[in-house]
Amino acid sequence: MFNYTAFDESKVEFAEIAPASELPNGERLFVDIGDKPIVIFNIAGHFFAIGDVCSHDEGPLGDGTVEGNNIVCPRHGGEFDIRSGQAVQMPAVVDIPAYPVQVRDGVIFVGLPAK
Ligand code: FES
Repeated sequence: MFNYTAFDESKVEFAEIAPASELPNGERLFVDIGDKPIVIFNIAGHFFAIGDVCSHDEGPLGDGTVEGNNIVCPRHGGEFDIRSGQAVQMPAVVDIPAYPVQVRDGVIFVGLPAK
């Protein structure tokens, strides 16, 4: 499970995304960082970022329904914890990437592994 509070910042590069005001509570934002499709969520004022590709059969995960802290894949109903990327419902069994998110001076940044 991804731990947002225990990653090594020297191994992460943060990309500037957008003003946090453009992502209100309950909304999601689709971005590509390099070749990685990522979806960012605002859940009750907390921001989370996960890969936008389902690990089961590459479904468009970010288009799924959010239920609490989970997202349900629209293709076959696999479910993932948005906070960690952990697969929590069959047929999904492989976790998806979760990325650290920071808000600095009102701007959202998403961290990816440093090159
Ligand atoms: S592609 Fe997502 S559950 Fe099958």
